[in-house]
Amino acid sequence: MELRANTIKRLKKDYGNWALVTGATSGIGKALATQLSKAGFNLVITGRREPLLHSISTDLFDRYGTETIPISGDLSEQKSVENLLKETAHLPIGIVILNAGFGTSGKLIDADIKDELNMLDLNCKTLLLMSHHYANKMRNDSRKGSIVLLSSMVAFQAVPNAANYAASKAYVQSLGEALHRELKPEKIDVLCASPGPVASGFSERANMKMGKSLTPDEIARPILKAIGKRNTVLPGRLTKFLVYNLRIMPRSLKIRIMEKVMSGFTKHQRQA
Ligand SMILES: NC(=O)c1ccc[n+]([C@@H]2O[C@H](COP(=O)([O-])OP(=O)(O)OC[C@H]3O[C@@H](n4cnc5c(N)ncnc54)[C@H](OP(=O)(O)O)[C@@H]3O)[C@@H](O)[C@H]2O)c1
Repeated sequence: MELRANTIKRLKKDYGNWALVTGATSGIGKALATQLSKAGFNLVITGRREPLLHSISTDLFDRYGTETIPISGDLSEQKSVENLLKETAHLPIGIVILNAGFGTSGKLIDADIKDELNMLDLNCKTLLLMSHHYANKMRNDSRKGSIVLLSSMVAFQAVPNAANYAASKAYVQSLGEALHRELKPEKIDVLCASPGPVASGFSERANMKMGKSLTPDEIARPILKAIGKRNTVLPGRLTKFLVYNLRIMPRSLKIRIMEKVMSGFTKHQRQA
């Protein structure tokens, strides 16, 4: 689904025509970058897979003629983050989408703690560092800025069998909702994008077998459309259905339901 002309006009008027999307080599980030490029935004895109990142950049330029700068690196490492901040310092980036992230699953006690800490570095520490940096950069701009944080529907309650991943997204959601208020006077719009299951590279890396999922394309448009409108978007009907149904339940019941859901997503691990 494409962005409507009035949304494109509003986004460009408010935030200019440069955007940064982290984690644009697959899934949600790639779909967001494609939509933005198609809408005429120049882009900085990131990912660890350098050849893939460069081919996506070339493809976007060939298809839509917008400038696309690929900056590769592992964003769980501070030196790569610092390099990205340095390389983008001169660019008038008005929309920053902090999408790069991954999940883990299974019982935490059995996990490799290095993976769990690495996930916190990427999902939380880097996201904090980059939010702080770009908010300060945008504060000095004459026009508005926008920061989009990729949260998740798992952010709204604890999730046994994905305990640390859900906790990392609870951090993102809480940070984003607070920054939405704190940065409003600075003319910076913060949005938490909190999808349910999406078919992407996510499930393989998280070792989850998810059931019904949305496609990245289905959620890209509602996310971009919600920029500057509210603090959280639940993109897609499936996400809304799942989150609204859970919302009315007591917290302890929500946790038990999510435990059952995640137990289904990780059943194959116990059968192996
Ligand atoms: N899929 C879902 O069901 C779902 C639901 C809710 C929220 N989310 C969130 O949505 C975001 C995007 O996930 P996705 O579903 O699109 O998964 P994906 O297809 O696996 O994409 C993840 C992106 O992040 C990049 N990335 C991963 N680790 C990185 C690292 N250490 N340094 C730099 N880049 C890294 C990947 O690029 P490289 O591999 O090239 O580094 C890739 O472009 C994540 O924050 C995820 O938690 C996903």
